[in-house]
Amino acid sequence: MKVTYYGQSTIQIEADGKKLLFDPFITHNELAKHIDVTSLKPDYILVSHGHGDHVADLVTVQKQSGAKVICIAEIASWLGKQGIDNVHGMNIGGGFNFDFGRVKMVNAIHSSALPDGSNGGNPAGFVIYSEGKAIYFAGDTALTYDMKLLEDENLNWAFLPLGDNYTMGADDAIKASAFINCKNIIGIHYDSFPVIKIDKGEVAEKFLTAGLNLKLPAIGDTLEL
Ligand code: NI
Ligand code: MN
Repeated sequence: MKVTYYGQSTIQIEADGKKLLFDPFITHNELAKHIDVTSLKPDYILVSHGHGDHVADLVTVQKQSGAKVICIAEIASWLGKQGIDNVHGMNIGGGFNFDFGRVKMVNAIHSSALPDGSNGGNPAGFVIYSEGKAIYFAGDTALTYDMKLLEDENLNWAFLPLGDNYTMGADDAIKASAFINCKNIIGIHYDSFPVIKIDKGEVAEKFLTAGLNLKLPAIGDTLEL
């Protein structure tokens, strides 16, 4: 299983031969100018919530790829109004078996309106089960006790927001790592805006001290999970 980081919370996981793109936000991200959005041809696009920094390139990438969008029911109906019907609506606590593996939609503590003001439903995270591995994508969220529900899922990797201000910051992400019982963390949702800039050296040191394996891949880099 491979993951490529595209900045903010945009990642692409290759699982069982399928490409799963999460929260596409590239063209409006100053830090991701070197990424060619037209080259993205995912099989699936997973959307955690409706905020612009998670959906800005959603319609474009869906139209160029024909990808199936996996998202909460309200975002599914919003996409339907834009003529996108290859959509799989879910809701919190529900799981579904796709051809690459299972997706479970889990709680996130945040807000969710779409860029045009439409109701984005509740914000969500995802747990992906594929190739015998379990991966948690937290989306935008505060630290929440609900994360303890994942402690027995044998998570191999977790994508956690680190930027503070709009989501949890590094100290709470370290607590979250304990709640979910996962030592392998990839940071997301930092540096894209002034209020979520982090000191990477300081954050890396905190995770190391906590006995955690934190990866902060450069935008465009691919890691083996
Ligand atoms: Ni958000
Ligand atoms: Mn966000």
